[in-house]
Amino acid sequence: MAELGSRQLFPQLRDRVYLGHAGVSPLSQPVLQAIEDHARSLAREGFGSVPEVLAMRRRLRTLLGQLLGCSEQDLALTGGTSWGVLAVAQNLAWKAGQRVAVVTGDFPTNVTPWQRAAAQYDLRVVMLCPDLDELEKELKQGLRLLALSAVQFQNGLRQPWESVCELCHAHDCEVFVDAIQALGVVPFSVGQLDYVAGGAHKWLMGVEGCGFLYVRPQCQATLRRNWAGWLSHDEPVSFLFEGGGHLRYDRPLRSDMQFLEIGSSAGVAQAALEASLKLLLETGIEAIFGHVSQYLDQLEPGLLELGFASLRHPHRRSGILALRPPFGSLEQWALALQRQGIRISTPDGLLRLAPHWPNSLKEVEEVVTAFRKGVRGGAQKL
Ligand SMILES: Cc1ncc(COP(=O)(O)O)c(C=O)c1O
Repeated sequence: MAELGSRQLFPQLRDRVYLGHAGVSPLSQPVLQAIEDHARSLAREGFGSVPEVLAMRRRLRTLLGQLLGCSEQDLALTGGTSWGVLAVAQNLAWKAGQRVAVVTGDFPTNVTPWQRAAAQYDLRVVMLCPDLDELEKELKQGLRLLALSAVQFQNGLRQPWESVCELCHAHDCEVFVDAIQALGVVPFSVGQLDYVAGGAHKWLMGVEGCGFLYVRPQCQATLRRNWAGWLSHDEPVSFLFEGGGHLRYDRPLRSDMQFLEIGSSAGVAQAALEASLKLLLETGIEAIFGHVSQYLDQLEPGLLELGFASLRHPHRRSGILALRPPFGSLEQWALALQRQGIRISTPDGLLRLAPHWPNSLKEVEEVVTAFRKGVRGGAQKL
């Protein structure tokens, strides 16, 4: 069981204060154990472990459904966020000339696949500022789809995805959300969103190589089956387990979103995600968000006093505190902090501090002291 503010489940974590969860999360003991159990089962059973692997995938879809507030029929397990974006970009029934909007400052995961689809299907990509008025102007000119992040990876601002979605739907525009920087820390539900993709290795605290894609029921029939593989069919494994005469190539493709689970996938990463989701859901995302908000609320004033500028906004909070230092390069700051056992990340122009449920509120003073030391030492000493 996870205890907010306790690192008991992370005995191997080296940094004294780990604030890198928006990059890659460290693995907890239960996640490590799940990886080991999965690997050992393969070592012991080989092919015999397949029924348990299939059962684990079913349990994982159920947990993801709980996390996202959706039915497991509407989900596909994927290889990560990019996989989910690409699956939609490559399977939508595009018409030449249609316009797709992406948001300036978003992580390229939610831009590149739309650019590639544009090149392939003769679409236009529109770069938008994250601003509702500008969005409305573009919607009036006709948009087929808007792609945005639930939480911006760099400044940590939670995007108003519910009102964005309402506005887009009023103009017949679908909405695709990359939720990797929200899930596991910020309360999130798919609501009316059309497509949601995410991955395991950040706030969900699993390992790379595993993610999911949600597709709203109303959008499923129009999603083309351009991407299909042997597991995309109805009863895809009967020819392996049910005797002779089942090998066919004309079975219908699945009508649910599992058609996108095209072939064998990263079982070890899925087992890890199952274990980490159990911990997160037992703890409760609301409680985690409350804890992380309290941590950042206590930390932010001390850093503002030292001359750092914060990009946090009272109504758009997430698990990220993004800062501009008063002097010195980001790399110098990151190194100086690392020398004092504090791990942060530095995405494109900002210092990013990203605590999660294991971070103790007692760390806050230590972090402020380390920053103060940096400020007192001056840029040259950093
Ligand atoms: C907003 C956002 N989307 C996606 C990713 C990564 O996507 P993928 O899991 O496909 O590598 C990141 C960070 O790595 C991110 O910050």
